[in-house]
Amino acid sequence: MKIARFSRVGFILAAAGSAVGLGNIWKFPYITGEYGGGAFVLVYLLTVLLIGFSIMIAEMLIGYLGRKDTVSSFETLAPKHKNIWKFGGFQGLAGLFIMIFYSVVIGWILNYIVTSLTSLPANVKEAEVTFSAMLNSGFFTQLFYHTIAFLVITYTLTKGIKSGIEKINLVLMPALMIILSVMFLYSLSLDAFPKAVHFMFAADWSKLNSEAFVTAVGHAFFTLSLGMGAIMTYAASMDKGANIVKSAFWVVFLDTSIALVAGLMLFTFLYEYGSGPAKGPGLVFISLPAVFYEMGVLGNIFAELFFTALAFAGLTSAVSLVEPMVQYYIDRFSWSRVKASILVSGFFWFFGIFAILSNIDGAKEYLTWGGRNFFDWVDFFTAAIMLPVGGLIMAIFVGFILEKSRVKAVMKPFLKWAFEPWYFSLRYITPIAMFIVMLNLMGVV
Ligand code: PHE
Repeated sequence: MKIARFSRVGFILAAAGSAVGLGNIWKFPYITGEYGGGAFVLVYLLTVLLIGFSIMIAEMLIGYLGRKDTVSSFETLAPKHKNIWKFGGFQGLAGLFIMIFYSVVIGWILNYIVTSLTSLPANVKEAEVTFSAMLNSGFFTQLFYHTIAFLVITYTLTKGIKSGIEKINLVLMPALMIILSVMFLYSLSLDAFPKAVHFMFAADWSKLNSEAFVTAVGHAFFTLSLGMGAIMTYAASMDKGANIVKSAFWVVFLDTSIALVAGLMLFTFLYEYGSGPAKGPGLVFISLPAVFYEMGVLGNIFAELFFTALAFAGLTSAVSLVEPMVQYYIDRFSWSRVKASILVSGFFWFFGIFAILSNIDGAKEYLTWGGRNFFDWVDFFTAAIMLPVGGLIMAIFVGFILEKSRVKAVMKPFLKWAFEPWYFSLRYITPIAMFIVMLNLMGVV
């Protein structure tokens, strides 16, 4: 039924568009700040290299062989145990859960694009007041921009693989890379750049407690879009002759370099004009606008460019977070693309309202349990638990359930000598690492 396929470049840009998102530019710098820099970054980089890259290839392979929505792909590839393995495909739900807060954050960014046009806060105090006014009492502002994000995402999805998803990525991804490169080059010229390098790469192991460890591993999955079927769903529309390993390499490479570039740039700005690495989700919404103010006119331009790039990154990822469930309803229930896009997106739009309310004075008291509000719980539950578990499912599926001869036939030409190390990583390194993470997690929660 599905005829539309990505072009080769289109696939790489779409998968990279999925990977490069708020995770890279908003979340990575602030959690790096929160967990003290170097050691945290190293655990994240090692996870990306040793586990993330292998699972990226595995997830692409399942989609490439399955050719359908995630649930059907698992079913077709494991005909004997399809009733068990199809649950691997329901990981697609994780994307919708993530969207509950993701879309709200894209909304904040859209709001900042508009407000930074006319005014920037003169100092961090003022920036804090502006941010918390939006967060704690700006219900309708947040709802408005969350709805705009929902409309853009839904519209793109209704257009399908070729004229929706591929197109938006072909335009927004290069634009995002150009904007970040320009700003990064500027940060290179500042005196504080070496300080940022030191903060990000000098490892202080005493800061690496078990929560930092779990967060770093979870973030590696989150930032690479692994473990919930986004990459798998895109790979189902991959060109038949495309090189899986090359594509996976490009996605991992672009995602990691953009995170590092964004981190270095932001920390340089914060050291040069502000008070050093700020902590928490407010980093780009509080500390950064105050920094832009210090830069004068250039700051106004940078603010617009930066928030636009951030919005682009967020939107291309958001589309991939929703697409797995859209594809599921199209393939399994024969829904039209328009109907599936609207109804599936409606889900995250609706629950997004509660994510907004969980920060609003007067409502948040009812939406907070055990020290985390609804917004934070969704973030924690998806990134720290659902995605690593999903990644584990995929590693085990390719490592143990698919026949080795079949996997080898497809992958050996791409991987050559690296086939056995890759296979070994899926069978043993990933499961053992995930087991350690789970043990850690139980100690944390
Ligand atoms: N990788 C995206 C980011 O870094 C988020 C994402 C997670 C997208 C899982 C798709 C699937 O923001």
